Amino acid sequence: MASEATLNARYEAHLSRVGRTVRASAIRQAGDLGAGIPDFISLAPGFPDASLFPWTEIRDIAAAALDGRDPTVLQYGQTRGYRPLLDALIQVLDARGIVSRVEELVVTTGSQQGLDLCARVLLDPGDVVLVERPAYTGGLTAFGNAQARLVAVSQDAEGVSLSELERAIAGERRAGHRVAALYIVPNFQNPTGLLTSRTRRLQLLEWAARREVLIVEDDPYGSLYFDDAASEADTRPLKADDREGWVIYLSSFSKTAAPGFRVAWIAGPEPIVNRLAIAKQSVDLCTGTLDQRVIFEIWKRGIIDRSVPRLRQAYALKRTAIEKALARELGDLVSWGSPRGGFFLWAAFPASIDVESLNRRCASKGVLYVPGSAFHVDARASQHARLAFSSHAVERLDVAIARLAEAVRETLSDPATGPGPASGSAAARGAPSAARSSG
Ligand SMILES: Cc1ncc(COP(=O)(O)O)c(C=O)c1O
Repeated sequence: MASEATLNARYEAHLSRVGRTVRASAIRQAGDLGAGIPDFISLAPGFPDASLFPWTEIRDIAAAALDGRDPTVLQYGQTRGYRPLLDALIQVLDARGIVSRVEELVVTTGSQQGLDLCARVLLDPGDVVLVERPAYTGGLTAFGNAQARLVAVSQDAEGVSLSELERAIAGERRAGHRVAALYIVPNFQNPTGLLTSRTRRLQLLEWAARREVLIVEDDPYGSLYFDDAASEADTRPLKADDREGWVIYLSSFSKTAAPGFRVAWIAGPEPIVNRLAIAKQSVDLCTGTLDQRVIFEIWKRGIIDRSVPRLRQAYALKRTAIEKALARELGDLVSWGSPRGGFFLWAAFPASIDVESLNRRCASKGVLYVPGSAFHVDARASQHARLAFSSHAVERLDVAIARLAEAVRETLSDPATGPGPASGSAAARGAPSAARSSG
């Protein structure tokens, strides 16, 4: 039996450039680490809480759809999507301030496919995609696997930095590079949880029109704002004010219904959406027909509209729980900006802690996170960790943070990994004060 290395070497010559360099999702890899270990609490994957899925309604809807009376339920469907769902999407978008027509929509197999289709249709190898620093890994892999040149632009408290954007685009164009798009997640960004300000959104639209650059706006979390910290108006998509057609808007039912259905959509300028739909034909012909039916029925019966306020409450409680636990256990060491919605808390550790090796120690204690480096285009070292609080019960978050804190204490007292004698206090270690942490 040949070794894995021998087998890999044997097939290497048969792979394309993309096949040889294809990037795996760092989150998926991190998530796999704890899989199957009893009592493991992984804060790595940004999964919704499965106990919040509308199980009973889904069971009834699926059973009715599968009663055999309508053969199209299990038939191939239109690439664009199931027509009643497309019509429903017009209403969903309208509630977010976006006016759209069916011709401007395509249903995708998750927003992840939407990102991949955008990469296929917008990019040639070597073209630039401007991304946030840090950025959602699924965007980085989709654009990276299409051989994009990923150029990261820092974020400030209001969103992606305009002055840096200006510098980046000017520099890239001067160097003769084609800038294909800016990719952003303005609502409760993955991984930072950052909510882009209204002013910055309007500035970005003005920038896109002036610089003639497409914006890929990825919005899976917009309806999951926390009522005590943000409002619907704060999450108004850029697309809603996109008078000139520079925005390609992606959204998904993964976080408001269930991700197992893989039903999401793109709304964009008709000529681009036409191309995306053609590209989709060669990827999967159509998104799962049964999945679309179930999602449509859930929407039609008002189940999504009724459950979203409950989801907001449930995720806000988890946010409060993880912040309380962090403040209690690690308040003198770790800082973060309080998430105003979504699934993630972006925790900053002092310089004396190596966030990657801390994660390995955490794994031995039954907890895990995604190190910040995973969200950087150059995998640069980071003092941050993304803690996904979305899928666990409040009590489990307490246990997870207690384990994390134990790993931190061990790291600091371990002569091999600790801060050393020169830096005794938290302040000397570069730790933010508890007052600066928002927990
Ligand atoms: C910012 C962002 N975009 C896209 C996705 C993919 O979502 P979907 O399940 O619709 O493929 C995720 C999933 O976590 C995400 O966080």
